[in-house]
Amino acid sequence: MAQLSLLNISGKDAIRQRLQALRQELNLHAHRYYVLDDPILADAEYDRLFQELVALEQQHPELITPDSPSQRVGGAPLAQFATVAHSVPMLSLENAFGADDLVDFEERLFRFLQIREPIAYVTEPKLDGLAVELVYEDGLFTLGSTRGDGLIGEEITQNLKTIPTIPLRLSTRAGETAPRRLEVRGEVFIGLADFKRLNEERGQAGEALFANPRNAAAGSLRQLDPKITATRPLDLYVYGVSDPTTLPCRNQHELLKYLGSLGFKVNPLVHLCQSIAEAIGQFAQLQSQRPTLPYDIDGLVVKVNDFALQERLGAKARSPRWAIAAKFPASQATTRLIAVEFGVGRTGAITPVAILEPVRVGGVMVHRATLHNEDELRRKGLMLGDTVLVQRAGDVIPEVVKPVIENRTGQEQPIVMPTACPECGFALIRAGQEAITRCPNPDCPAQRVRGLIHFTGKGGMDIEGLGKKAVQQLVGLGLIQDIPDIYRLTTEALSTLDGWGDKSAENALRAIAASRTPTLAKFLAALGIRHVGEVTAQLLARHFTSLARLVLAGEADFLHIEGIGEQVATSLVDYFQDPAVQEMLARLEALGVSVQEENRDSEADGALAGSVFLFTGALARLSRHEAKARIKELGGQVASGINRKVTHVVLGDSPGSKLTKARELGLTVITEDEFLRRIGR
Ligand code: IVH
Repeated sequence: MAQLSLLNISGKDAIRQRLQALRQELNLHAHRYYVLDDPILADAEYDRLFQELVALEQQHPELITPDSPSQRVGGAPLAQFATVAHSVPMLSLENAFGADDLVDFEERLFRFLQIREPIAYVTEPKLDGLAVELVYEDGLFTLGSTRGDGLIGEEITQNLKTIPTIPLRLSTRAGETAPRRLEVRGEVFIGLADFKRLNEERGQAGEALFANPRNAAAGSLRQLDPKITATRPLDLYVYGVSDPTTLPCRNQHELLKYLGSLGFKVNPLVHLCQSIAEAIGQFAQLQSQRPTLPYDIDGLVVKVNDFALQERLGAKARSPRWAIAAKFPASQATTRLIAVEFGVGRTGAITPVAILEPVRVGGVMVHRATLHNEDELRRKGLMLGDTVLVQRAGDVIPEVVKPVIENRTGQEQPIVMPTACPECGFALIRAGQEAITRCPNPDCPAQRVRGLIHFTGKGGMDIEGLGKKAVQQLVGLGLIQDIPDIYRLTTEALSTLDGWGDKSAENALRAIAASRTPTLAKFLAALGIRHVGEVTAQLLARHFTSLARLVLAGEADFLHIEGIGEQVATSLVDYFQDPAVQEMLARLEALGVSVQEENRDSEADGALAGSVFLFTGALARLSRHEAKARIKELGGQVASGINRKVTHVVLGDSPGSKLTKARELGLTVITEDEFLRRIGR
């Protein structure tokens, strides 16, 4: 008997050791993959290790540790957030606007310190997200919180654990031990591409859109159900600690390196500057890089590098004296609304455009801004002659935020919507519940040009050399009137045009030739059918697989597809039943345009036809067997491994590595509740 229990213990030790080895290995590879962006292990091998870990943990749940990669999502929804008092207040930063303010900042430092020696600075991009604090005890992530009011924040440990770039355990080199307690601070954010995708998915699902990446990050992080947070593409850059004195670092630059070595993601655009002039140079540099960065930033943080100097400088009530945020020029400004013009879009939509007294917003002169549609215009309560607040949303597209009512003189005039198309004179219509007024004339020249620009543009066939200007020129000269005409262009015709040469003509022709065999999804998106964007086009392509099948479909066939509603179905039927469209498709075929068939593994025709589900983690309300049977009944498919054909990843309890892969591939992740809704439970 004694022998047997001994054996058990040593058997358990072996399992414990194996589990530890697996966790270490998986954490190492996840770090290489997410933080360093430099994987050295094949995905399949990672999955194999992960599955081994999950299987072993299922047999020995008592051996599960909080730093196991299996524990990133697991917690139950909360009723409310607990509060956390920060041991050292989370301060904010004073703002500087432009180079002069940075020179003044250094002057203040000199005066305060009574020195004149050069000061070294670290500059860091100021990410526009949410400040958080992560507490590690003996290397283990134990507590995460929001900044809150700087003194007290909300406890969001479970939510933060779902972010793959946050280490659950600090990595230390052999012989080194992790600090007893470490409070790391950083900014949680959502990248611009992820933000766009998230909003597209929400739009498709009929959910309210997030106004900007910052709101999306905040909304995602402050979810009571960590499973929802797990479906959001959150990321984190760390930039400091609450108290660096006990760490093996003498300055901010060393600290950032040290944090990197512990496994955190540190922004690569950090610079060590030997003077304020260098820091000012970085400010200009970053400002010019800003439009190309994959995330939003609103300025540059300049920090005194040396911790001994930081200590001497100390803090005022709300902000440290040793750091400052150099903000990019304000991207809001006020100006006057001179007039409203009405443009005609690709689908005939009449878009009011504000004509503004030119004003500089975020470093760019703004002359006009879209007002979207009549409802939007009325909601804002604008009048001609108003002083208006203008901003550049996402710092690209200018928009009118609101009128400045206090500035009204009584001379302002109401804005009158036109009743006839400003391009072709056709009587405009506004159907049913639509917010949009349209020109119903299919031959409206404005619609034709916009349609052609869309067809050749990025969201369409992406024909290089046939951008907006080229299309406008070719239409203006009568060389093209509709889509098939594009495929009748010749090098000779193009090369003699203004601004064209042999080379550009040949390049354009080559790009046109290459677009003769588009995928079905690309072709559908390029046609510019109302309500059919890239995502819907993909759904349709997956479902119908060939253009011939799609053209023959009726409204009911479209409504069978998950994600397609009545509005889209009607629009598709109207489009493909239009004799002019049928004639255009026939001409395209005659000109050698051959839309490729989409591959599909099996034919299916139910409510879930075209949907491919993948499960990760345990389902709470039904067994996987049941779930799979139900999906098959409804014409859907179930994938066994992750791949790009998967349309929905269903998130159960303790999900595996499939979740992280799914996020990487940008697949749609849904909760179990959402899944149950889709299968009609
Ligand atoms: S340092 C005591 N560094 O900006 C130093 N902050 O107004 C305080 N932020 O709440 C923070 N990037 O959310 C620092 N590289 C960076 C930052 C950064 C973004 C945010 C942070 C903070 C706010 C300061």
